[in-house]
Amino acid sequence: MILVTGGAGYIGSHTCVALLQAGYEVLVLDNFCNSKPESLQRVSVITGKSVVLVQGDVRDRSVLREVFKQYVIDGVIHFAGLKAVGESMEQPLRYYDNNVSGSVILAEVMAEFGINMLVFSSSATVYGDPASLPIREDFPLGATNPYGGSKLMVEQIYTDLAQSDGVWRIALLRYFNPVGAHLSGTIGEDPSGIPNNLMPYISQVAVGRREQLTVFGNDYPTVDGTGVRDYIHVMDLAEGHVKALAWLQNQVGVHVFNLGTGHGYSVLEMVKAFEFASGRPVKYQIAPRRAGDIAEVYADSLKAERELGWKAERDIKDMCRDTWNWQKQNPLGYVD
Ligand code: NAD
Ligand code: WQD
Repeated sequence: MILVTGGAGYIGSHTCVALLQAGYEVLVLDNFCNSKPESLQRVSVITGKSVVLVQGDVRDRSVLREVFKQYVIDGVIHFAGLKAVGESMEQPLRYYDNNVSGSVILAEVMAEFGINMLVFSSSATVYGDPASLPIREDFPLGATNPYGGSKLMVEQIYTDLAQSDGVWRIALLRYFNPVGAHLSGTIGEDPSGIPNNLMPYISQVAVGRREQLTVFGNDYPTVDGTGVRDYIHVMDLAEGHVKALAWLQNQVGVHVFNLGTGHGYSVLEMVKAFEFASGRPVKYQIAPRRAGDIAEVYADSLKAERELGWKAERDIKDMCRDTWNWQKQNPLGYVD
């Protein structure tokens, strides 16, 4: 059985689908600070299999101990964390406590129970502003905000841990920009409040929930002046976790992988692709750059292809089609 922390969230719920379909049993530990149990009910409908759900906090040793005592856990996928960059600048201690302390406590309790296989959600944000593109795993690292700092610290902590004891097998997965939804449109990204990220913002404009998109800057040195990112379909990402877990069975040590497509799209290219997929107009206005943003980011994911046998299969049309399918079926997200 695989313990999935934060498994009710956006990437976690899609990964539960991929795990169940690959034949794994799944236990989710989530405190629902940014998700609802409804997502997991829908995972069960999609897969015809159920997930064991434990409501609790990853910083709570007693809950973790109960889980490890009661179930035979073979490995852990650790998604539980806070992820809003702006919020992390206002509440750095909350971010370090949740993301860093949570990751330390999880590994401590895993060690107590002799569980040593761990997949960690890192982020392309650990590269800061890269000197060249595409970004490879061996590029210099640097955080520009407490959220990124928390990911970088956990990477360092897990690297030190794996070096201290050869029994650990750890994959640090650096995601680029996850978007899209399960093909069924029944699970997807459900941000609370005003979306920070581009894709949910675009889809909420298309569905009529927001009036217009604000495009942050059109004076970047890119194809059309707007920011370029490597958007990756969340089901490709989910399948990457399943591949990483299978691969770790025969490894020891700590291993880092980029998970991206290798292609960059600009904000305006995303708007056009979404208008095409949805048949709806996406109104936008150009505004100044958003503080902390960089011009262009895309991944070199050849290491994951070579070692994990993983490659993103879904393209920008699939990402927009599936996001729209989710958004139009669930205009207000998961409602009770
Ligand atoms: P999400 O907020 O949808 O999911 C995170 C889940 O973790 C939520 O269900 C939340 O309730 C839970 N959680 C948070 N803190 C917890 C705690 N202390 N104990 C138990 N549960 C807790 O976010 P997501 O987009 O699915 O991201 C998952 C992971 O991937 C995060 O660690 C995030 O930093 C990382 N990541 C996300 C992106 C992205 O753009 N979505 C990119 C790179 C990395
Ligand atoms: C994408 C592009 C914006 C919103 C963030 C985190 C990163 C990772 C993924 C977790 C940029 C532009 C956006 C809007 C816009 N998360 N944009 N109008 O900033 O690349 O990455 O999410 O690990 O750490 O920093 O993603 O979706 O916010 O922005 O014009 O309303 O869209 O300027 O060029 P970003 P994003």
